Amino acid sequence: MILDRESFNVDEESVGQLSGWEGGLAPALWLTHRAFEIPMTFQIEKKGSASKAELYADLLLQLRSLLEGERDFISNAANFASLLFHSLPDLNWAGFYLYKDGELVLGPFQGQPACVRIAMGKGVCGTAAEQRQTILVDNVHDFPGHIACDSASNSEIVVPLVKHEQLLGVLDLDSPLFARFEDQDAEGLNDMVKVFMDSISLEGNM
Ligand code: SME
Repeated sequence: MILDRESFNVDEESVGQLSGWEGGLAPALWLTHRAFEIPMTFQIEKKGSASKAELYADLLLQLRSLLEGERDFISNAANFASLLFHSLPDLNWAGFYLYKDGELVLGPFQGQPACVRIAMGKGVCGTAAEQRQTILVDNVHDFPGHIACDSASNSEIVVPLVKHEQLLGVLDLDSPLFARFEDQDAEGLNDMVKVFMDSISLEGNM
């Protein structure tokens, strides 16, 4: 399918591939739906001087809008990571480790390439996953067993992903600042993780 994003025209061959089309306005309507109802042109809104509470309230709304109508775990995780990375100040990494076969495996993320597998109970991610608790680390160099994927990281927060009491993985954010994350971040991110968990379907995804 070749979609001309300026005019929303399609080439002749693709028109023939549109299921159920028998002429008339159908292709235009189909394209209108694809182009405007699906948030493929989602723009992250940045509000400069917002307090942390306002920032997270606003991000929660943006996340709902971004994930609306999509149930795919990987797609929604990828967009969630992108929203966080481009909206929260002072991050050098934002992404997911997914629980697979008894260990954590790198999932969608934004930032420098990262280590792929983390054993349960190891590092900040493995500890948060094992305890199913959000962990804030003011200075990662003081955290026993911290796994340094990016040498720029100095503080970190990890939020476990749990749906129907099933561990699905963790959300991990890193910052080059010391003590970048505080309780308000933990609360805001936990609220966002709930929206993400509600958005996804487990069937055929994990
Ligand atoms: N620092 C993490 C490893 C993942 S990276 O930061 C992306 C940890 O100690 O588990």
